[in-house]
Amino acid sequence: MSEELKDKTIILGVTGGISAYKACELSRMMMKEGAEVKVVMTENAKKFVSPLTFQYLTGNKVADDMYDLEESGISHIELADENDLIVICPATANFISKYANGIADNLLLNVLLASKSQIVLCPAMNVNMYENTLIQNNLNKLVKNGVHVVDPDSGELACGWIGKGRLANLDTIVETIKKKVQNKSLEKENILITAGATREYMDPVRFISNPSTGIVGYCMAEEFQSKGAKVNIIAGYNEVNFEKFDSYKKITTAEEMKNEISKNFNKYTVVIKAAAVGDYRFSRRVNKKIKKTDGVLKMELEENIDVLKYIGENKKENQIVVGFAAETEKIVENAKKKIISKNLDLIIANDISKKNSGFGENSNFSFLIDSSGNIDELGLISKSELARTLATKIEQMRQNS
Ligand code: CTP
Repeated sequence: MSEELKDKTIILGVTGGISAYKACELSRMMMKEGAEVKVVMTENAKKFVSPLTFQYLTGNKVADDMYDLEESGISHIELADENDLIVICPATANFISKYANGIADNLLLNVLLASKSQIVLCPAMNVNMYENTLIQNNLNKLVKNGVHVVDPDSGELACGWIGKGRLANLDTIVETIKKKVQNKSLEKENILITAGATREYMDPVRFISNPSTGIVGYCMAEEFQSKGAKVNIIAGYNEVNFEKFDSYKKITTAEEMKNEISKNFNKYTVVIKAAAVGDYRFSRRVNKKIKKTDGVLKMELEENIDVLKYIGENKKENQIVVGFAAETEKIVENAKKKIISKNLDLIIANDISKKNSGFGENSNFSFLIDSSGNIDELGLISKSELARTLATKIEQMRQNS
């Protein structure tokens, strides 16, 4: 049996929704992974599940009363401080809204507001409530404040409606918790991740670009953040949500990306250049829409700045620069050339001719190559797995330096 939560203390906050009964199972699952679980319930939660159930399951008294120190023996400050993570499961619309607005009218809200711990929140409610702009705004507010929200699943809801709102799968919740409490081996790193696709405009309504969606950059950002690194994103067009990271700047062109990178370049300890940057731009860019005329329209393209090359050329001692190579032939040979020509420390070479590998996919057929010529053939792996492999490699490089 794996014990990935061994010696971790998890506070399980339960609020009053029908899926409160699932929190019983969640407490068991976390204990199976080695965690000590302490449950805090709201008054409404007790209408769905008895505190006695949690007490039997976890072996710990349930805290539910702000003022009854004798009964539980622990104050909200102790609960707030002495844990490795707090998970709220389920989180009702009412609870989410109070928390997002700093209201503290029960023990659990006091614990959350007093805590500097990592917080995982698992909403569960009727689909219309979940989609209500007020609830979405409150959830976004919490996300911006560093709370990790585990999105609810879609399906049949207890209220009879079908839609998004059902408590996320318990395995997903446990996986999220495990990831959050894992080692913080990269906490000294201040990482820049570039992601998504640049766009080069010909006129105000037409541009050339590529199909990048930003998934690789997102997986990298999640992985490095979970290992304690500060994560900064500079990204072009993308289809993911980068708002939750330490900083996020959206750019359009390669030139803008370079300018944005150069602003704080010396502060970054690692640069991961996952963006798909266009190699060409229009020689002539006009501010007015080019009118359609009969026949052929000839446009000239000129070479764009190679942002990665610029980074490599300006690299400082101790900065690790990771480039990518999208290749369809002579994968390793071409990637090795890019390591030298762009002065990189590492390159991830992706064989985009393979099935399920490349733009918009969740996996890549990859090689990880370092500047000493060591090659790891990773094969077809998920982009999350690729991020984990890169994080481990960077950890090793730091240990050896
Ligand atoms: N890159 C960049 N600026 C460019 C082009 C590419 O920063 N104008 C970066 C990409 O972000 C990626 C790496 O360079 O990390 C490799 O991109 P890729 O398209 O594989 O290679 P190119 O250098 O453009 O060479 P080629 O297209 O000839 O393979």
